[in-house]
Amino acid sequence: MEDKISRVTIHGFMAKHYDFILNILTFWKYPGLLNRAVAGMNINKREKILDIGAGTGRNACIMYNYLGEEGEIIGFDIEPVMIEQFRKKCRFNNTKIEIHDITESFPYKNYFDRVFISFVIHGFSRKNRKIILNNIYNTLDMGGKISIFDYGNFNFSKQPFFVRTIFKIAECPYAFEYIDDDHKKMLEDSGFANVNVIKLAGNYVTLTTAEKA
Ligand SMILES: C[S@@+](CC[C@H](N)C(=O)[O-])C[C@H]1O[C@@H](n2cnc3c(N)ncnc32)[C@H](O)[C@@H]1O
Repeated sequence: MEDKISRVTIHGFMAKHYDFILNILTFWKYPGLLNRAVAGMNINKREKILDIGAGTGRNACIMYNYLGEEGEIIGFDIEPVMIEQFRKKCRFNNTKIEIHDITESFPYKNYFDRVFISFVIHGFSRKNRKIILNNIYNTLDMGGKISIFDYGNFNFSKQPFFVRTIFKIAECPYAFEYIDDDHKKMLEDSGFANVNVIKLAGNYVTLTTAEKA
């Protein structure tokens, strides 16, 4: 489902060079943050992981390093340039990407041990966020985990001028709603429990993990 005010789907040149552009925009801080986020997930080598809005496959390649032969990663994305890069980057036996819109019901039920969602959920309306969280809940096995690597909760109006300016330029209106909304409550309202937040760059970027109760 293409949403006109969301900027979460990136196309063309930006999609082709997404990883590089992100590194530049964050003064090369992003790879370190991502590695710390994946380390903070405490991945079990047998996990079946669904990476939704998987992008170029950079995240999947890092998670792959934590898995053994029995583990598995499936990515979902809808953007052809992203999907092509994922297919080139993550050529492992137990890793693949499928074309799937995450606002539509997922084809796997009670299957995954973990769903990873990195810098995707902030780009959806509250209504679609709820739909996506419901889809994630249904695709997880009992006791399975959701790990959200994304913006944390912070008060936009209290941030320094340069932070407000960058955020305004880079982000869509849904991201402003997302940083304002209580993420623990958002997850609990969708049936998740044991919410745990790791601050990776203060409250700006966090890894939030919760369990299917
Ligand atoms: C900002 S990028 C983040 C990519 C990756 N998760 C990362 O952290 O590098 C958002 C990704 O979500 C994908 N996406 C956006 N809307 C989607 C949807 N409705 N269903 C599946 N993927 C979607 C985009 O194509 C893009 O690859």
